[in-house]
Amino acid sequence: MVRTLESLHSEYKARTPRSMEQWERGKQTMPGGIIKGAYWKSPHPLYIDHASGCMLYDLDGNEYVDYANHHSATLLGHSHPDVVAAIHKELDRGIAFGNPTALEAEISEEIVARVPSIEKVRFSNSGTESSLHASRMIRAATGRRKIAKFEGAYHGSNDALEHSTNPALDAAGSIESPSVVPAHKGMSEGSEDEIVILPYSDRETVDLILREHKDEIAGVFFDGRPGMLDVSDDFASFLRDITKDLGMKLVVDEVVSFRTGPAGYQGLAGIQPDITIFGKVVGGGMPVGAIGGSAEMMDMLDNTGHPTGITQSGTFSGNNLTLAAGLATLRALTPEVYAHLDSIGQRLAQGLDQAYADAGIPCQVLQRGSVVNAYLTDRKVSDYRSFMTSDTATTTRINLALLLKGYNLGTAPMEFMLSSPLTDKHIDGFLEALSEVLAEED
Ligand SMILES: Cc1ncc(COP(=O)(O)O)c(C=O)c1O
Repeated sequence: MVRTLESLHSEYKARTPRSMEQWERGKQTMPGGIIKGAYWKSPHPLYIDHASGCMLYDLDGNEYVDYANHHSATLLGHSHPDVVAAIHKELDRGIAFGNPTALEAEISEEIVARVPSIEKVRFSNSGTESSLHASRMIRAATGRRKIAKFEGAYHGSNDALEHSTNPALDAAGSIESPSVVPAHKGMSEGSEDEIVILPYSDRETVDLILREHKDEIAGVFFDGRPGMLDVSDDFASFLRDITKDLGMKLVVDEVVSFRTGPAGYQGLAGIQPDITIFGKVVGGGMPVGAIGGSAEMMDMLDNTGHPTGITQSGTFSGNNLTLAAGLATLRALTPEVYAHLDSIGQRLAQGLDQAYADAGIPCQVLQRGSVVNAYLTDRKVSDYRSFMTSDTATTTRINLALLLKGYNLGTAPMEFMLSSPLTDKHIDGFLEALSEVLAEED
């Protein structure tokens, strides 16, 4: 079952010599040879020459159907004509003016019209920046200093929140009282005292922990991780209710999950957070972040009358190229497009179930809209601890074998971030390739 890593690595090296050359060159001037830490490193990163629709083309001329879509950001696939046209039009006007443009109200109106919890919006440059501002806003609004977040959730490279994002299980403490595990050396030690870790899907424990810290917690950051974790919508509603009861703010992280529906995860789960943070999809492939919420929360950032004591800005926040790409993307995301994404998502999920059952490999498949994940485990994947039971070593081999057959997957054990140019034919081709991979031996 599935070729060995050694044989897969040697075929990959033989097929991608130009990527290897670039990596060797990069090692002279960049740590690890790469410009950021998030690239596939085993045995070397895959360097892309160009991309179009649902296809990626590497430096050696190999083609891949792209199931990763720039860390989930490109929901319309690569170089969607409306998005490219909007960027071109904006380029002709100029780059980076240092003054507002008419695009600002257009994209804000688009987001407000889609998401019932949002009355006002601000833009930043990344999900990280958005989580940073949201952390300050909920502290300022409540006068409390602690923030609660879920074990295994990532809200960006923000010291206030980058704890217990992927803790080793022997350091993670008991499920009733998860330990605070900083994700990196060098983070502020003070941040460890200001964070409270919650287990996903466990109402009783969440209830106990939040009540224990009820006068200290400003708010809860929550990414429902649709299509990634089996977190029920009831759990989301419970969280909305308890945070309201305890005077805490609920911040929903839609940086990835906004791709699951017109109003994102909160629209599917039927909850209205106090603040929502965005990234990825709302920039149409350009660098982006955004923060939205009720007028009461967002007006804390309105310093036009008297100073509120809290502000939000950023040299490139809401730059005209990002806004143009984001607006064109949101306008192209019609109900029909979401229906198509859900339909291919379901087809893929059913096929994955079948392929792994046929191969006799225990597997849990999760799907919501355009997000699909397959975990090699016989446990329901509803929190970080069950997520960690997935057989990642085998999945790594499967993913590499699929890459060699022309399929580029995301980085989680087996993650698919679908895009609208994908069709049933692409999904069926992928499933055929998966069955071959599962049957292959060296
Ligand atoms: C759920 C979630 N929140 C926040 C972030 C941070 O976004 P950015 O990489 O734009 O800073 C990410 C990034 O992957 C994410 O997945």
